[in-house]
Amino acid sequence: MDLASGRLGYRGAHVSARKEPLARAVGIKGGHRPHVVDATAGLGRDALILALLGCRVTLLERHPVIAALLADGLARAAQEPALAETVERMTLVKGDARPWLQEHIGGVVTLDPMYPHRDKSALVKKDMRAFRAVVGDDEDAAGVLGAALAAARERVVVKRPARAEPLGGQTPDFQVPGSSTRFDVYLTKTGQS
Ligand SMILES: C[S@@+](CC[C@H](N)C(=O)[O-])C[C@H]1O[C@@H](n2cnc3c(N)ncnc32)[C@H](O)[C@@H]1O
Repeated sequence: MDLASGRLGYRGAHVSARKEPLARAVGIKGGHRPHVVDATAGLGRDALILALLGCRVTLLERHPVIAALLADGLARAAQEPALAETVERMTLVKGDARPWLQEHIGGVVTLDPMYPHRDKSALVKKDMRAFRAVVGDDEDAAGVLGAALAAARERVVVKRPARAEPLGGQTPDFQVPGSSTRFDVYLTKTGQS
């Protein structure tokens, strides 16, 4: 877990709101930088992109091994002069998102649950296969979406594989396409577009 180097470090150094579908999905526009609750933080890659763009991000992660890796990655990134200010905008909370969301409100809540893949195809990248072996599938993700919709004051954003059905069969207000993924956006603030 290294937030400062490799592919992620390169992407971080070149991140631009115009080019990141995630930035559009969470509603970054002009000077607006929403507070984001990343309810499925994983290895913190999406959260880092948002923090680099100026959002404060609360990262929720329930798997103890992944949460420990993430805590270590954030602590090391905080020592990097180029990332220290960004990491200050990121707060890790270890535990399950569902009860947390029932007790807090957030501007935007993002979800990127593990998508159940029934095939063991080599098309899935090696690091994702290792990650899946540790974490398993997030079979309860539709329930977390319900809690997210109740907690978010602006919107909920769900990352899905490009061809997957919407989470829990709930049709989003709109979709933002990515390369192999897409973002399903559920508006929770009336009058927002
Ligand atoms: C596909 S990964 C997320 C990857 C992340 N978007 C990134 O950029 O690195 C999904 C993660 O969400 C976590 N997760 C799933 N459901 C959760 C919940 N209800 N509360 C907290 N963490 C959860 C899993 O343990 C897993 O680490």
